[in-house]
Amino acid sequence: MNTTQTPVLQARGLVKTFGRVVGLDGVDLDLYPGEVLAVIGDNGAGKSTLIKCLSGALRPDRGELLLDGRPVTFDRPQDARAAGIETVYQNLAVSPALDIASNLYLGRERRWPGWQGSLLRRLDHRGMRESARQAVRDLGITTLQDVTQPVETLSGGQRQAVAVARAAAFGSKMVILDEPTAALGVRESNQVLQLVKDLRERGLPVILISHNMPHVFEVADRIHIQRLGRRAAVVTPETHTPNEAVAIMTGAATAA
Ligand SMILES: Nc1ncnc2c1ncn2[C@@H]1O[C@H](COP(=O)(O)OP(=O)(O)O)[C@@H](O)[C@H]1O
Ligand SMILES: [Mg+2]
Repeated sequence: MNTTQTPVLQARGLVKTFGRVVGLDGVDLDLYPGEVLAVIGDNGAGKSTLIKCLSGALRPDRGELLLDGRPVTFDRPQDARAAGIETVYQNLAVSPALDIASNLYLGRERRWPGWQGSLLRRLDHRGMRESARQAVRDLGITTLQDVTQPVETLSGGQRQAVAVARAAAFGSKMVILDEPTAALGVRESNQVLQLVKDLRERGLPVILISHNMPHVFEVADRIHIQRLGRRAAVVTPETHTPNEAVAIMTGAATAA
């Protein structure tokens, strides 16, 4: 991580209101190349709203987004995905009835080459299975053994691994994970945290939303503290303790 480089992603003064509720109140965010940036904050601090604005799921009322220093607007999630930003939302979007491979390719199914694909719309199931196997292997996800297994037969942690694998396979710029370990047990959480470290290892920056302080302090390079719709502070595991970070998060302390 190198904070003298141009951030991969910058948000400046994002405002998002829902009727009379202020979700974001002029928030800034910087994500630098190769870092894991944790975003922490109390319930209602605007974490999910912020992530939705970064991933095109919501359009901010005001403010701007810069990708590699250039202004961008995302009107739809597809726009952010096309720019290389993959997001795993808090409420996991996997399709239980489909198998792992189909879930990985959901929304970007591969078709047969030539007229069989273009005219008959035939899906390249075999190719997708092979690539899915490769993606799972590359990521070292040992918890997923058979990509033809229906997702409904998987545990919560395995489903989360599928969602993270999908994001990792297609995210060329960054991966955003909203509370990926919230519903998981210790072992499964550790697997997801390992995946996050693997992504960083591969040079892909990660935004990790979490209110699990041990997890945050284990993997984050920097910690964005979100409070009342704004960025209250950015701290690091080297400069601050978990208690100090929580104090800033709750307003009991201000950033030193
Ligand atoms: N679709 C929505 N409609 C109305 N209010 C919303 C909506 N989404 C979020 N909010 C409100 O915006 C604030 C920030 O919410 P959210 O971003 O979900 O916080 P967090 O993820 O940090 O818990 C909260 O007060 C929440 O109730
Ligand atoms: Mg949330």
